[in-house]
Amino acid sequence: MLPPFVLNSPKCLFVNQVTDEAMASRQLKLKELETYLEEVDGFENPKVLLEQYSTPAHLAACMLYTIHTSFDGIKDKHVLDLGCGCGVLSIGAVMLGASKVTAVDVDEDALAACQQNIEEFEMENIDLELHDITDLGSEISERLKVTVDTVVMNPPFGTKHNKGIDMQFVKTGLSLTSGAVYSLHKTSTREHIQKKAEDWGMDMTILAEMKYNLKCTLKSHKKDTVDIEVDFIRFAHKSVKK
Ligand SMILES: C[S@@+](CC[C@H](N)C(=O)[O-])C[C@H]1O[C@@H](n2cnc3c(N)ncnc32)[C@H](O)[C@@H]1O
Repeated sequence: MLPPFVLNSPKCLFVNQVTDEAMASRQLKLKELETYLEEVDGFENPKVLLEQYSTPAHLAACMLYTIHTSFDGIKDKHVLDLGCGCGVLSIGAVMLGASKVTAVDVDEDALAACQQNIEEFEMENIDLELHDITDLGSEISERLKVTVDTVVMNPPFGTKHNKGIDMQFVKTGLSLTSGAVYSLHKTSTREHIQKKAEDWGMDMTILAEMKYNLKCTLKSHKKDTVDIEVDFIRFAHKSVKK
């Protein structure tokens, strides 16, 4: 059984324990990963237009664990987290053995929160970069596409504001890796996404249908929580083996 989290104790104690006893030998269990990710702090003042809500620990753990165990896409890999927010996917990727994570967000406050989480977990191999995914410069694109193995993201859904931004994230992700992109999308938009993937000549596999229990942290939300059906999707260039 996991030790209980002790108030005021540095999070790194637990991470180090995982590193020593389990992570190195691929033993970290899904439930353990989820428990650690619950300790990642979320957005203090989320911005509506940027759709800032953190991926719940349970979903983040399921995503990363699947990428790790079914596709060998995390351990010893360079993982790119697009729209990293407070960093739950980046931190989880390091826990599962990523050799390096590049975490990108357009918002300085999000990167500051991410940096704080990284420091609390005492992780050193996460690089933060401030960029707009819809307008990446050629310097970063050229630099990243040489080394990035796997792209993970929970993009803005983009159904009300910034229509289509989720697929812009996917397109950018695919342009930055010869590996695969793993992403969350509203199930209600599945047909549209399938059509886009077809148009782009990409393989698309729905790995899981999940329920996203979104805590209504944004002022625009009328209820305390809302359940959103989401697809966990893997996109890959046609030549990438499954
Ligand atoms: C739904 S949140 C996900 C946050 C985090 N990845 C997670 O899983 O908890 C979407 C993130 O994308 C960022 N974002 C929105 N538009 C962006 C853009 N054009 N370029 C880069 N990041 C953006 C937001 O600031 C926010 O942190």
